[in-house]
Amino acid sequence: MKPRVFSGMQPSGNLHIGNYLGALKNWVRIQSDYEAIFCIVDMHAVTVYQNPDELRAKIRELAALYLAAGIDPKQSTIMVQSAVPAHAELCWMLTCVTPVGWLQRMTQFKAKAAEQETVGDGLLQYPVLMAADILLYQAAIVPVGEDQTQHLELTRDIAQRFNSLYGETFVMPETSLPSVGARIMGLDDPTKKMSKSAPGSGHAVALLDPPATIRKKIMRATTDSAPGVDFDVLSPGVANLLGIFQAFSGWDDAQMRAHFSGMRYGELKKQVADMVIANLEPLQKRYNEIVSEKGYVDAVLREGAERVTPIANATVELVKRRMGLYTPC
Ligand code: AMP
Ligand code: TRP
Repeated sequence: MKPRVFSGMQPSGNLHIGNYLGALKNWVRIQSDYEAIFCIVDMHAVTVYQNPDELRAKIRELAALYLAAGIDPKQSTIMVQSAVPAHAELCWMLTCVTPVGWLQRMTQFKAKAAEQETVGDGLLQYPVLMAADILLYQAAIVPVGEDQTQHLELTRDIAQRFNSLYGETFVMPETSLPSVGARIMGLDDPTKKMSKSAPGSGHAVALLDPPATIRKKIMRATTDSAPGVDFDVLSPGVANLLGIFQAFSGWDDAQMRAHFSGMRYGELKKQVADMVIANLEPLQKRYNEIVSEKGYVDAVLREGAERVTPIANATVELVKRRMGLYTPC
């Protein structure tokens, strides 16, 4: 049996090249080597308020983007978190073994909480639900971008604590980061991670941006005042542009140096824009085909939930038995 992979994304905001290079591209690459489950984590999205109509639409859009990027629903499972109630059930059981202090220390919690007037309990519980997502399927590998490494460490801590209290139950999941592209920075401010929620039209390249918009955003990206690329002193903006090119192209470091050393920033940006557009155009074409096929995305999601529900329910049963919760004889 192939080892299991699990990962997910929130159906909020617009998916950008950071999400693609940090996670989605890696998912597509490894899907044939594993039994892969790719989730649309709508219950994570509602830890901050989402407009219900927009959220409904975003769930299907994200599923279509998974498919357009190359996730093959015959090989891998695409499913929505809230369609499998076991995620919420296991979350509660894990909540009971998780010290609040662990959650209050999470950097993402601290950053998101600082943006809210009142902080919902769900925001604090966010990483416990993420641990439930992963442990529910006994996933061995979790491919994510670098910003999720702290949450993955917490998942292992929770699993270990449960195992030591109630006996060996959970597989320890490993984090898998891409070698290039694990942390793509904002084009307008390369000291900040590219994010779905950051304001400003020059911040992120969305996967569904038209080519002219992509080009405009990249040509305006922040660099520095040097005349051209010097690999010995790369400023964050130039390093980010080179990282984007390298992650899309798959070039190695030697190829990158040979090609870009001394290149003027205007030319560098042009080549980065060409590379991004050449990679996103086929994805966008497939996306349009997928959404024009009525009922297709919903059928994939329905089948996905059906496929994983028995696995998820078996884990919940096991956890109930381990904890002494009621299970009918
Ligand atoms: P999210 O948008 O928070 O649901 O993230 C979905 C996936 O994209 C996660 O695996 C993140 O680690 C990854 N990701 C998000 N932003 C970036 C970024 N700027 N660079 C690389 N990976 C990212
Ligand atoms: N927290 C992740 C993010 O924002 C999304 C997520 C939820 C996830 N559950 C997961 C990622 C399980 C990997 C595995 O990117």
